[in-house]
Formats: sequence, structure tokens, C-alpha cells
Amino acid sequence: MKTITFILNGTDVNCEVEETELLIDTLRERFKVKSVKEGCGIGECGACTVLIDNEPHYSCLTLSSKIEGHDIKTVEFLSQSGRLHPIQEAFIKAGAVQCGYCTPGMLLSVYSLLLKNPEPDTLTIREAISGNLCRCTGYQQIVEAVKEVVKDPDKTEKADETKGPEKGEGLYKVTKDHIFKTLTEKKESRIIAGGTDILVKARKGEFFGGLIDISDLDGLKGIRQQNRHIIIGAAVTHSEIKINPIIKSRAASLSIACGTVGSPQIRNMGTIGGNLVNASPAADSIPPLLIHDGVCILVSRDGSRRVPVEDFIVSPYKTSINNSEILESIEIEGLEGYREGYRKVARRAALAIARLSVAWAIKEKDKIFEDVRISIGSCTPMPFRPREVEGFLKGKEKDKGVFKEAVDMIIQGIVEKSGMRQSYVYKLPVLEGLLIEILRG
Ligand SMILES: Cc1cc2nc3c(=O)[nH]c(=O)nc-3n(C[C@H](O)[C@H](O)[C@H](O)COP(=O)(O)OP(=O)(O)OC[C@H]3O[C@@H](n4cnc5c(N)ncnc54)[C@H](O)[C@@H]3O)c2cc1C
Ligand code: FES
Ligand code: FES
Repeated sequence: MKTITFILNGTDVNCEVEETELLIDTLRERFKVKSVKEGCGIGECGACTVLIDNEPHYSCLTLSSKIEGHDIKTVEFLSQSGRLHPIQEAFIKAGAVQCGYCTPGMLLSVYSLLLKNPEPDTLTIREAISGNLCRCTGYQQIVEAVKEVVKDPDKTEKADETKGPEKGEGLYKVTKDHIFKTLTEKKESRIIAGGTDILVKARKGEFFGGLIDISDLDGLKGIRQQNRHIIIGAAVTHSEIKINPIIKSRAASLSIACGTVGSPQIRNMGTIGGNLVNASPAADSIPPLLIHDGVCILVSRDGSRRVPVEDFIVSPYKTSINNSEILESIEIEGLEGYREGYRKVARRAALAIARLSVAWAIKEKDKIFEDVRISIGSCTPMPFRPREVEGFLKGKEKDKGVFKEAVDMIIQGIVEKSGMRQSYVYKLPVLEGLLIEILRG
């Protein structure tokens, strides 16, 4: 058991929690906060949403030990004065509540949005609630309710400066040495960062070992520029990457890709390191890391080693990381003067896994390709760069015939790699259209 101290709806609280206890259980069972609901239990419905430092998170995939020193808000915070919050009143007025199961989470996502952006447009509102599913009211009334609040500036409020209580003196400040020791001694243990992959496996009964939290480790956080390169800590979240100015200006495809991961809650929790080590063929961050010649920096008791992302992933869901290693950071090449992008084809806009994805960075002058970098995800067992085709395009004039020849080479390469899969009936024509559009610019 561990003692954790945090702020719950404005009050300093503490309690003892089990090592693998989930925040939803701590709130519901230890603090009797029953507004936090369990729906899917695996990060897909949003009924368990709480705010951590004013940002929405899924409490069903958050270890309670992670909230030490943080500010936690549940829907009870909104009506603490004894009156309903204007957002709650607007929901009632607009008929945005029926069974109410999704409502606490939905209200918190809206509250968090309005703290950051008091005048959101419809798209921004939809994006903010995209991690909260409503199965009976429908989203139109919910969006209308938010617009009602936005109309009256007195009803929205500024982000408060609430910070969590100071963390106990070094109480849970883990060191790399401690982690290396635990990895060696407890071989069945696994590293956890955001938990959005490993806790889903644990909840589905696919993983039973202990968990070693590395998300607070120095060296795994932050994004910094080093000459032409950018170093991204492995524990940096997708939300942080999406808005980081260095990434936006020198690796725009990565910023866009991270912005398409899951939902706001998943992006606030999931890390780039977890995305890479999980090594799904559909992982959104991998195609942009490939076009930026990403290199994984792995550390262990024996020192560190550098492995290009291209070699790091050895097969679907398998990487070359050893049990005794931590992925500390990813180094990428920052690109200037390129047009960059990322497109994800999925069944819907949010909480959807890529069926096909393409990242690109293209440098051209006077209609001549100077450098073309493309990578394709979710089509072959591992995301890949068609390097031969990139070489073919270098120095070529931008021309329909050249586009066609290059795209045909890519498609042929995919079929040679994977055979003619059933899904290629729709994937390949979509990919063809996308690639022509990308090359044409
Ligand atoms: C509802 C839902 C939607 C999702 N949508 C998407 C999506 O659209 N696109 C997408 O790409 N992914 C998606 N994911 C998957 C997941 O969110 C991402 O892969 C995320 O980046 C994983 O990061 P994490 O920090 O949560 O990983 P964790 O679950 O903490 O860890 C994942 C794996 O990596 C290992 N690991 C983590 N960090 C390190 C490290 N630094 N060193 C060594 N090993 C490490 C862990 O041991 C574990 O095996 C989704 C997940 C859910 C639940
Ligand atoms: S219970 Fe569905 S996201 Fe947590
Ligand atoms: S009001 Fe019933 S699920 Fe949203």
C-alpha cells in the first residue's frame, strides 16, 4: 500500500492505495464519489472522465499512485456552491441529458474546454467531447448547450491556478537505478508510462505482472532542440507533442499525427514512448518518426545504445528493446523548408484506429523534387518508407507521369511485401489517390 496526497474538488485529501489500484476505484470506493461511472473500462466511452490539473483523463486507465500531488476534479466540483453550474443549467435547458450516464464526464470535458477557450467554435466543441460517448441524447443538443454557455461570457470562467499539494519529500520520486534494479529482480514486471495500452491488456486479463511507473523519471520528459535535431522524452504525451512549437515548425507531420491519437483523454495520458514500444502497425506516431529518421535512445545499467526507429520495430507489436532497458528518448531530424503532413484513414474521426496512414515531408524548388520522404502505416505488417521510390523522385520534375510511376512502384512494393490482402481491395485505391494528391501538393 502507498499513501497518496492530492486535492479532490478543492480539498486536500490523502488515502492509502494498492500498487495497481485504479483512480476510478479510489474515487468510487474510498471517497464514495459515485458520479465517476464505469462504462467500458478500457478507455473508449468517457463515462469515467475526471480532470487532472484541469485536463480530462480516463480514471479507468489511471493508476491512483500517479495522482500524488495533483488536482483532481469530478462533476461535484461544478456545483459546490449549492447551485448548478451554468454548464449544467445549459445542458438541462437544451435537453442535453437523458439517462445521464455520460453526463458527468461530458460536463467535465466541456468545463475543461471553456477554461482554455471561452469562445470555441462548433468543431472545437465536437473535438473536446470526442472522447465522451453519449448513447441516448445525441450530440446536437450537447453542442447547442455549450454554445448557449459561450454566448454569455459571465457564465464561463478563467482557468484557476489550483496546483496540487507539494509531493511528499522524494516519497515516490523514482530513480533510474531503482527501476533498473526492479526490472532485473522482478522479471514479470512491465514498465508503465501513460497506461493506455498496458492497462487495457491488464483489464482484459492479458497481463498479470507488476507495473513499474517511469512517467516521472527525469530525462524522459520535455522536448528540446539540439542543433538540427529534436530530442523528445519518451514520457512526453501526445497532447504535449501536438502543441509543441518546435515540433509544429520542424516536424509538423508528428504534431498532426499525435493530434489524431484516440481522444483528448487518450492524448493527455498516452506517451510517444508507449506508442513506439507497443509497436502497433497502426500506431500514429511511427510514420512521422520514420520520415524524420527517428532514433531510439535506450538506457540500461550497462549504458545506452541508439537504434533507428526503422530497426527498433522488428515485427507487429515486437521491438528490439531488452527487458532490462528503458526507452529514454527519441531523437528526430528537424526539417526546414519542407511541406509536411499526416493523413489517417479511419472509420470515424475520434477513438478510431488507422486503417491506413501516410506521413510525408517534401522539399521542392521550381517544380523539381529536391527531397521526398514518405512513410505508410497500417497497410503492411510494419510502417515503412519506400526508399527506392523516394530516390526515384529526387531531382524529377513534378509531372503527372512521374506521380503515376512513383505511386505504381509503391503499390507494387506493398503487394510484393504482403501479398494481395483482402483489405487491399479498398486500401490500395485509397492510398493511390492520397499519394497522388500528396505529390501534387
Ligand atoms: C481508447 C484508445 C484509443 C487509442 N487510439 C489510438 C490511436 O488513435 N492511435 C494510436 O497510435 N494509438 C492509440 N491507442 C493506443 C495508445 O494510446 C498509444 O499506443 C499510447 O501512445 C501508448 O502510450 P502509453 O504511455 O499509454 O503506453 P503504456 O500503456 O504505458 O505502455 C505501452 C507499452 O510500452 C512499454 N513502455 C512504455 N513506455 C516505455 C519506455 N519509456 N521504455 C520502455 N518501455 C515502455 C510498456 O511496458 C508497454 O509494454 C489507443 C488506446 C486506447 C485505449
Ligand atoms: S469506463 Fe469507459 S473510458 Fe473509462
Ligand atoms: S445521456 Fe444517456 S448516454 Fe448520454
